[in-house]
Amino acid sequence: MAKLRLEDVAEAAGVSKATVSRVINRRGYLSKKTINLVERTMKELNYRPNAIAQQMTTGKTQLIGILVPNVANPFFGELASTLENHLFKMGYKVLVGNAQNDAAKESRYLQQLLNHQVDALIIATHNHNIEEYQNANLPIIAIDRYLRQDIPVIQSDNYAGAKLATETLIERGATKIVHTDNLPSNQHDTQRKEAYEATMRAHRLTPITYLTDFYGDQAQRVATFNQLFDEHPDVNGIFASNDTDAALLLQIARQRNYRLPDDLQIIGYDGTQASQLLAPDLATIVQPIAKMANATIDLLELQLKKQTLPASVILPVTLREGTTLRKNKRR
Ligand code: RIB
Repeated sequence: MAKLRLEDVAEAAGVSKATVSRVINRRGYLSKKTINLVERTMKELNYRPNAIAQQMTTGKTQLIGILVPNVANPFFGELASTLENHLFKMGYKVLVGNAQNDAAKESRYLQQLLNHQVDALIIATHNHNIEEYQNANLPIIAIDRYLRQDIPVIQSDNYAGAKLATETLIERGATKIVHTDNLPSNQHDTQRKEAYEATMRAHRLTPITYLTDFYGDQAQRVATFNQLFDEHPDVNGIFASNDTDAALLLQIARQRNYRLPDDLQIIGYDGTQASQLLAPDLATIVQPIAKMANATIDLLELQLKKQTLPASVILPVTLREGTTLRKNKRR
């Protein structure tokens, strides 16, 4: 059977070849009626547009690359899923990669994505000094990290979030507050740690930080958190820089018979849907993941249209109350 051509669809639908091509590439003004007619005809004829030919005509692949540290992490999983949803509706295909803490893997991914001629990249990884970003000549949006002077960064207000967490613990009676954070440290981790330390000092309290490896296994976290409780049995407040660590700290504290929130108060960071479902008791600083994804898409669209972009977009965070926090007396 002869291979179906664009002309065959045009003839069957009673429109011009140019109209079929414009429907396929979503170019120019098209009425809903024309779109439906052409799409229905393509379906009836079982016609599949040639993606390579389309790419040659438009100069676009309709592919977007997204790199995150790991989609298994609830924050990055929710972020990647939200972004993919938006992009799919806009007619893009998404290629997602886990860069982990492997700079060579991230570099390799990047080269492959560039070889596939992706139209744009969304980068939310943790690795440093990846040369390819310096020379990449395509729209790029960074989430939570600085890549290059002209690449905009979308992030939640990490400094304000950490300050809010620390001040809330102080206001609700905690006097010995420990912060847990991750290595390798990124701009956002540094801001959270800096805000915690500055807030503690402003209240004449001594900052104490414990660091765990973001990519390490559960055993190393458990060991570090046990060390925290062994070295500071009188800890009465903990601000963890993410909810997975906060949930683990909560579990260890309960095993050690701390009464929450009377003996010990805990606040996490992220506030993903997964953490809300699995650790509903946990008080946390909520990052506006949906808004972060929206802002990323908005800037990407502007960048694709070659418009001027802001250097960064910083979105406000909120406190989600939970039973790991004493009640606000002022209410
Ligand atoms: O849980 C993942 C954490 O890594 C989030 O807080 C995100 O902002 C990144 O720092």
